[in-house]
Amino acid sequence: MTLDEKIGQLNQMHYEDGAFLEENARKGLVGTVMSITNPIDFNRIQRIAVEESRLGIPLINARDVIHGFKTIFPIPLGQACSFDPDLVEQAARISAIEAAAAGIRWTFAPMVDISQDPRWGRIAEGCGEDPYLTSTLGASMVRGFQGNDLKDPSSIAACAKHFAGYGASESGKDYNSTFIAPNRFRNIYLRPFHSCVNNGVATIMTSFNDNDGIPSTGNKWLVKNILRDEWGYEGVVVTDWNAINEMVTHGYCEDIRSATLKAIDASVDIDMMSRAYIGYIKELIDDGLIDINQIDDAVRRILLLKHSLGLFESPYCDETLKSSVFYAPEHIRTAQKLAEESIVLLKNDATTLPFNSEIKKILVTGPLADAPYEQLGTWVFDGDAKHSITPLTALKDEFGAENIIFEPVLEYSRDTNLDRLKQIKEKAAEADIILAFVGEESILSGEAHSMASLSLQGAQSQLIKELSQTGKPVVMIVMAGRPLTIGDEIALSSAVLYSFAPGTMGGPAIVSTLIGKNNPSGKLPVTFPMTVGQIPIYYNHNNTGRPADGSEVTINDISVGTSQTSLGNKSYYLDFKECLYPFGFGMSYSDFSYSDLCLDKSEYQGNDSIIISFNLKNSSEVPGTEVVQVYIRDIHASLTRPVKELIHFERIAMDANDSKRISFSIPVNKLGYWLGNKYMTEPGKFDIFVGGNSEDCMKTSFQYN
Ligand code: NOJ
Repeated sequence: MTLDEKIGQLNQMHYEDGAFLEENARKGLVGTVMSITNPIDFNRIQRIAVEESRLGIPLINARDVIHGFKTIFPIPLGQACSFDPDLVEQAARISAIEAAAAGIRWTFAPMVDISQDPRWGRIAEGCGEDPYLTSTLGASMVRGFQGNDLKDPSSIAACAKHFAGYGASESGKDYNSTFIAPNRFRNIYLRPFHSCVNNGVATIMTSFNDNDGIPSTGNKWLVKNILRDEWGYEGVVVTDWNAINEMVTHGYCEDIRSATLKAIDASVDIDMMSRAYIGYIKELIDDGLIDINQIDDAVRRILLLKHSLGLFESPYCDETLKSSVFYAPEHIRTAQKLAEESIVLLKNDATTLPFNSEIKKILVTGPLADAPYEQLGTWVFDGDAKHSITPLTALKDEFGAENIIFEPVLEYSRDTNLDRLKQIKEKAAEADIILAFVGEESILSGEAHSMASLSLQGAQSQLIKELSQTGKPVVMIVMAGRPLTIGDEIALSSAVLYSFAPGTMGGPAIVSTLIGKNNPSGKLPVTFPMTVGQIPIYYNHNNTGRPADGSEVTINDISVGTSQTSLGNKSYYLDFKECLYPFGFGMSYSDFSYSDLCLDKSEYQGNDSIIISFNLKNSSEVPGTEVVQVYIRDIHASLTRPVKELIHFERIAMDANDSKRISFSIPVNKLGYWLGNKYMTEPGKFDIFVGGNSEDCMKTSFQYN
């Protein structure tokens, strides 16, 4: 290969580059391309690369296939509520099959950024705040996208992004700086990436943020030392969009040439849209600043990826597949199942849900009851809203159109016009129950869509308030890209379902939950704050030297003029002591209870496994599934450790009035943590907790020697 041809492999271009892309493909000056979504167009460009360029090296076509290509699954944050690695893997497999039918062989997913901040719009794209849950589901997505063999034409290369720390963007503003200290970096933010690497992820994308002053794309410690040298990752690293150029804007490099040098030194292989590598690598080699071996290594990794994808033998995609795979019935069924498992029941007064036989007439209201596009959520480029089944449609199908009274009142989530409120009050009189579909339009979360307020937008709160005064039970169904601070609206509702953005089959999934065909099993993958001032908020925080135990005074207990004291001072807020809902929380129509937690031993050593056993009981007439969660606490360690850390979870299906003795085997190496570049399990006392959410758990202890 000539040097130009080598540099060409490192250069990524966009379909919208049009004739310029074709010209570069012909000259062998582009290695990968983004966002060709029509298989005929893809084959046309591929033919130029393969048949008209000197070396005939095929291109890889990449796309952001984040939670579905045509069939849209719940947003990743919603998928995470399922705590169901197998189903999440199936959804990724289907996404791969549909995308590959369009000529796409590389997705920029999964996003495995941990986020403890719902203001950050991109919290929607990840699996929430927990490193273990994100590691597990991220690995499922990698397996689903990549299939058993990347060579299979229905497999697509995955890309774990954004490496790393991006979810900690300060104040929740997108692209903002992060300040994550090294031990925290490894124990929280890097774990999901390590899991993806261990599960064979083919590519990794660097993140936009600078951590402690160093942008990831130029961070040699992160990419070269940790990812490649420590973890032994041999795959491709791609920058995020224009990220090499942005190192100049960050103020880290004085020009694009020096930014190019930083990226190459960090061992970043592909330049996405900066045009920095094609502009400067050659002169940096001439000046002796880049060694040709660095370029050869990057080219080798990219060619190996093309080889693994089977592109040298079969560069073209089958142009006829799409009609049989897009929105295939099995894909739609899986989308409904995952949407059902993603729904979290947050409140259920008395017997509001599921509907009883007396529910005949239903008043349906709110801006999201019939919003086919909005229910798909963020990062939906290719899914067609025409295929969405909305709650309104699904309700009409289930109950007959004549029994559904529809008055949205608000046209969209930010609508403040309450003129139609009068009609709804009259209509409420005819109804047995009110369903209020509120939340966020899809454009209010996702990339560059951060929010400082997490209240319901527009006049939605007012709508809930007015509905609650009709005397009819109100079920609030929230579709959103993030946790919202809706404590007041929840208090006014008889029951609440949180579905995040549920995707193509959101309507049928919600309706099957309302009528009890689906018994909710979803659990929250993020802590819900009461108010924005509590953010960052997460269950796996450290204990501090002054932990609060709940008995502390609140603002209302303090009389005017009270003098300052140093007694009883703890780490908490005077005005908001608790979160709205803890991590792992989610109710069911079944009634689960836990008892008799035991361990097989009181002391463990070496590579032992801890056998935990306990009773789980369903004392209801309703079969259901409980997501059982196991947490640990390393009580004293060389680093202060969190008060709880999730180390295991399982979905346990229970019959009506069922009781089971359940046991799990947990290898002791799951107790460990990173101190510097060493992962270790330190001897000492541990607490272990088992329960249905991170707050409400049984607890016992053991010793690790
Ligand atoms: C920017 C986003 O940060 C990244 O997640 C995405 O994959 C790229 N753009 C490509 O669209």
